[in-house]
Amino acid sequence: MRKANVLMDRDFAIGHTDPRLFGAFVEHLGRCVYGGIYEPGHPTADKSGFRGDVLALVRELGPTIIRYPGGNFVSGYNWEDGVGPVDRRPARLDLAWFSTEPNKFGTNEFIDWCKAAEVEPMMAVNLGTRGGDAARNLVEYCNHPGGSAWSDLRRAHGWEKPHNVRFWCLGNEMDGPWQMEHKSADAYGTIAREAAKMMRWVDPTIELAACGSSGRNMPTFGQWEDAVIEHTFDHAEYISLHTYLNNYKQDAASFLASSDLMDNFIDEVVALADAVAAKRRSSKRMMLSFDEWNVWYRTRRNRADRVKEGWPVAPSILEEIYTMEDALAFGGACISLLNHADRVRTACLAQLVNAIAPIMTETGGSAWRQTIFFPFAHMSRLGRGKVLRTQVESDTYDSSYFDPRGIQEFTFPVSNVAYLKIAAVAGEAGGLSLFMLNRDLKQEMEVSLEARSFGRLIVSEALELCHDDLQATNTRDAAGRVKPEPLQGVAIDGTRMRATLKPASWNVVHLSAQ
Ligand code: AHR
Repeated sequence: MRKANVLMDRDFAIGHTDPRLFGAFVEHLGRCVYGGIYEPGHPTADKSGFRGDVLALVRELGPTIIRYPGGNFVSGYNWEDGVGPVDRRPARLDLAWFSTEPNKFGTNEFIDWCKAAEVEPMMAVNLGTRGGDAARNLVEYCNHPGGSAWSDLRRAHGWEKPHNVRFWCLGNEMDGPWQMEHKSADAYGTIAREAAKMMRWVDPTIELAACGSSGRNMPTFGQWEDAVIEHTFDHAEYISLHTYLNNYKQDAASFLASSDLMDNFIDEVVALADAVAAKRRSSKRMMLSFDEWNVWYRTRRNRADRVKEGWPVAPSILEEIYTMEDALAFGGACISLLNHADRVRTACLAQLVNAIAPIMTETGGSAWRQTIFFPFAHMSRLGRGKVLRTQVESDTYDSSYFDPRGIQEFTFPVSNVAYLKIAAVAGEAGGLSLFMLNRDLKQEMEVSLEARSFGRLIVSEALELCHDDLQATNTRDAAGRVKPEPLQGVAIDGTRMRATLKPASWNVVHLSAQ
């Protein structure tokens, strides 16, 4: 049996989790919108066509903010196509996913859906084929109360009150050659700055995120941030970053180590942002918007394959079926985000339904939870509060991680991977939530933990997610194959806790103040 010791103190904090850390993402991609959140005629659909079974699962998952409408899709999107009488909206070829976009669902429907799901909207503007003018018009359409052409158009469309969208992304992955009208860092930085200025002149209360690198292995990573932050420093509050973990090499130990590279990526982007601040002698700290993250590799498609399929509406693409092993790597990513709560203020699980998603549906049929649903739901429900610094003594291993995403293939060393990956969050009510990943594939782990400066604690909830078969999945006909079970035998004596974690397991313990 492996052993790990953990020490923390209630007064030693990393930072408070921003509610927006628990966000997700809805793109016009495959069946995420059509057949996912929106399916008029479905037995559970309401009068707006929103699937009730999906809404119920979204509420259980617990996202707080939803990014929309892309993703790669946004870089060719004319937002005007998605508003106004539905029967007069044009169908367009979407060059991001080689689909036909019917535009039956657009900005106003998204806002209504957010209200139904009780989440905040996050909107991205098109800085690929469009620019600052379309972006400022969209802000006016959404947020201006009335008395101007675009705001009155919204009112004429049936939405009298402004949508008050606070958080806006200045384009998407503009560093990637796969993006429509991909740009150099200077070209993008200039457009992002000018769009940001005008958008904020229309509504001074908005918050803005500039595009950082779409992956740590992009050849321009670092230089891209440096140039883009130089351009946008005075105009944006956030710089974005994206990561998709993979197990192409079918090497579980490396896969479970890979979330540690997210920690490195975050630290590096913080350093890059703070270097720009230092050059200006500025005390402003740009925050990080990790607005796409997940496991994704089995259903990646190249453009040549997409073209062969013609131009379908809402095709079943990117429908990754997640395994137990994926849920573990994903849990490691949750812990990385929590442990950087001081700078990562926004994060979006990409995506929400069907396309690389925690929720799967059958068009016309049922909806169910994928394996990755559970770590996210745990993190959102129990991760609100003050993230504590943890001092961890755990055996480690060395590994390497193959990452072909982007335009270059890299193999990164991942050293000193602690078998125990942990985050600890002190809640306002005096309790403590522990998120623990045992990355040993073979051995149980005995965790001894001391939570200093807490009063007497009692175990109020203890759950584990594990399965004998790391390739186990949840499917329509076996929707509960992988699900959390009670974690037995958690012992607590005052502020000292002892727990035994199964090999390859995700564990959540909530301790309440007595
Ligand atoms: O989430 C799927 C895609 O991944 C997004 O559209 C894009 O931004 C990223 O490359």
